[in-house]
Amino acid sequence: MVSDAIDFHTPKELTRTRMMTDMKNIEYRIIDTVDGIDFEEVAEILSFYGLSNLDAKTQKTVFENSYVTIFVKADEKVIGVGRAISDGITHASIFNIAVRDEYRGHGIGKVIVDEILKRVEGCNVTLYTHPKHIGLYEHWGFKRLKTAYVIFHDESHYKEAGFID
Ligand SMILES: CC(C)(COP(=O)(O)OP(=O)(O)OC[C@H]1O[C@@H](n2cnc3c(N)ncnc32)[C@H](O)[C@@H]1OP(=O)(O)O)[C@@H](O)C(=O)NCCC(=O)NCCS
Repeated sequence: MVSDAIDFHTPKELTRTRMMTDMKNIEYRIIDTVDGIDFEEVAEILSFYGLSNLDAKTQKTVFENSYVTIFVKADEKVIGVGRAISDGITHASIFNIAVRDEYRGHGIGKVIVDEILKRVEGCNVTLYTHPKHIGLYEHWGFKRLKTAYVIFHDESHYKEAGFID
């Protein structure tokens, strides 16, 4: 039988540098494969913001099982992360967008979302964010979804944080 399956997800490492315009010039790399990523660092960034408290090993599984993974590295450490789950054709959902605190406000978050969106082109893309970051995603043209429903595993946490009534 001849398979006409298309590999929509072709992991490859991209190397980019971008000179920042503030006091320090930051040279960073965008990586879209989990290979060689230190998940202790990923877990640290995500737990710092309370986005996820999973340990490094579990976090690695979470990212390995995602359709798109983006890591930004600078100074030999992970400074930004993001991922999307998707079928590669119709729908994608973005999660875990975070930039290490000392690197925030330099355009890294924008790069991460841009890189994810490129890899799920053609899909309907959904996400939910912390109430304080709602405006952020309007930069990419995200619209508020009037018909969204969710079942949260830890409902009381999300209620307290203002995600649901
Ligand atoms: C949200 C986050 C990823 C943004 O990363 P960043 O590198 O600081 O953002 P950038 O410098 O790329 O900013 C991109 C644009 O978004 C804007 N922006 C950044 N944070 C914003 C926010 N909370 N609300 C609205 N706009 C925001 C910036 O002003 C910038 O706009 P501009 O292009 O018009 O200047 C980062 O602040 C972070 O890690 N926050 C904590 C983790 C978190 O809550 N993540 C969101 C989970 S969904």
